[in-house]
Amino acid sequence: MTLMDNITALGKRRGFIYPGSEIYGGIAGFWDYGPLGVELKNNIKRAWWKTMVYGREDVVGLDAAIVMNPKVWEASGHTSSFTDPLVECKVCNKRFRSDKPELLIAHEKEHKERVEWTEAKTFNLLTEVLLGVTEPKMTAYLRGEITQGVFVNFRNVVDSTRVKIPFGIAQIGKAFRNEITPGNLTFRSREFEQMELEYFVKPDEGGATKLFEYWKEERMRWYLSLGMSKEKLRFRVHEDDERAHYARFAVDIEYNAPFGWSEFEGIHHRGDWDLSRHHLAYTDPETNEVFTPWVIETSGGVDRATLFFLINAYAEEEKRTVLRLHPTLSPVKVAVFPLVANKPQIVEKARAVYSLLKKNFVVAWDDRGNIGKRYLAQDEIGTPWCLTIDYDTLESDTVTVRDRDTTGQIRINISQLETYIREKLEGGTK
Ligand code: GAP
Repeated sequence: MTLMDNITALGKRRGFIYPGSEIYGGIAGFWDYGPLGVELKNNIKRAWWKTMVYGREDVVGLDAAIVMNPKVWEASGHTSSFTDPLVECKVCNKRFRSDKPELLIAHEKEHKERVEWTEAKTFNLLTEVLLGVTEPKMTAYLRGEITQGVFVNFRNVVDSTRVKIPFGIAQIGKAFRNEITPGNLTFRSREFEQMELEYFVKPDEGGATKLFEYWKEERMRWYLSLGMSKEKLRFRVHEDDERAHYARFAVDIEYNAPFGWSEFEGIHHRGDWDLSRHHLAYTDPETNEVFTPWVIETSGGVDRATLFFLINAYAEEEKRTVLRLHPTLSPVKVAVFPLVANKPQIVEKARAVYSLLKKNFVVAWDDRGNIGKRYLAQDEIGTPWCLTIDYDTLESDTVTVRDRDTTGQIRINISQLETYIREKLEGGTK
């Protein structure tokens, strides 16, 4: 079993990620998140919003519609330039992106010979939707990047808030791309979520370069602060011929995935491309100077983050599989176990601890099998702390707190449990 097989199996078995529409044979490029997956994904989004919006004075949030007037996509250049080159294998008619030579080589290996390919054709990645009930229906698009919703609301945000340049608009939401070759679990999907910041700056090369460097480092720091291994992350500058049509300059944060170094998040200098295409400008409130701001963008994938945090945390040890997730990201923060299930006093006390903690944390209850097996089940889903209520609890009102990473145990008074967990979570430590 490869690491990807293990992650896929764990995802399915424990309820992180399921194949989309599985009972009907699935559908390529679409995935569903189970009860633990949705918690992990929400924790990532919450942590991002906390850092990028609540933690700053110069960023506000937005939640724009997925479907916009199709003119938006014409103006933004996506209807003409948001394309990938596609080639077809003349032996089996399978299609691949011709700008990904590793995919072509892997496919040739499947045929055990060099195969002939068709000429490359460009394919637009926007997903069309038909609106209305009477003919002719209106053709619109599911947004190919969440970004354009920010630009079309630039004026609205400036007019309705107190933001002044430099400032940012942050957004998290779904995007859709007709990917030719979805794959590697959720890494390349047709429906996915993005978490993006559009940071508007004065059109000045020196200032914009400094802010670009600043945001690049900030984004790297964020991933590291949530436990990503430093040696698994790197920056990669885009070559001239691979940059998106809107970007003057682009750097990716890449993760060393089991399938090779892969794009995790893009930091883009979009210049005045978008605002000028939408005929939008900014008036400086102090000087009345009118100009088209430039945009520095940080664009991360929520699904890629979920996948890479899972991969990064996964460890097989001699006696257990453990997800060493940062506690902020762990789907379940605490598990509560009555030592035995057939002693009403112990079960009752454990239920009281469970109810107390459940008010503020995601808590699991387990009274099946022996304590060792219960630990293993929680280790596998990354629960940082397991509490056992035993005979001593009835005497001293203390419980055993077992740490996922060290497997060490301490005893804590029930009245101190909430503070203990909260301090660990807020301090970001274990
Ligand atoms: N607004 C800029 C933009 O969309 P991008 O580099 O095309 O830039 C940004 O996408 C991020 O969105 C990527 O770094 C990746 O994390 C995520 N992403 C893009 N396409 C994806 C796909 N097909 N499946 C999953 N995530 C994707």
